[in-house]
Amino acid sequence: MVSTVYAITLVCIALIAAVFYFVIANSKKAEADYPSITKKWYGVRGKWFLFLITLGLVITYFSLSPFPIPDQKKDYPANDHQVVKVGAYQWYWTMTPDTVEAGKPVAFLVTGEDVNHGFGIYDENLKLVGQTQAMPGYTNKLVHVFDKPGKYKILCLEYCGLAHHAMITELTVK
Ligand code: CUA
Repeated sequence: MVSTVYAITLVCIALIAAVFYFVIANSKKAEADYPSITKKWYGVRGKWFLFLITLGLVITYFSLSPFPIPDQKKDYPANDHQVVKVGAYQWYWTMTPDTVEAGKPVAFLVTGEDVNHGFGIYDENLKLVGQTQAMPGYTNKLVHVFDKPGKYKILCLEYCGLAHHAMITELTVK
């Protein structure tokens, strides 16, 4: 019995030693393989990085290009400009005049009379066609050319208090 236990113990020690030997021998081999492995995966990492940068640029371009930011720097002839003065209050809009013509540039001069509001123009399908901030102490200019006549909705785009959702008015485009 004792000799059996002794034999089993010896076999176990030999097995453990073999495992140790195997691991140590292989770790040396793995170290030797390091340079080729790092070189390969650094290359993959570089390509992955380039892929992500390209993907990011493509997504940025396609998600921002249809955004309704008209070219505010464009110079329209002064006499061809319709001017609409917009005041944003808690919780209503003043807009003078509230009727404009289609096909001619409209310059909205937008200011906030108490707190920050957002001036958003929506078409009849409630698609945003133009927007700018209405900030106290500033007058933001939004130039937009309406292609289609109709009733456009002005909604507030910036949470400005209890009745923010009720800040709605209408713009008529003839
Ligand atoms: Cu004004 Cu929200």
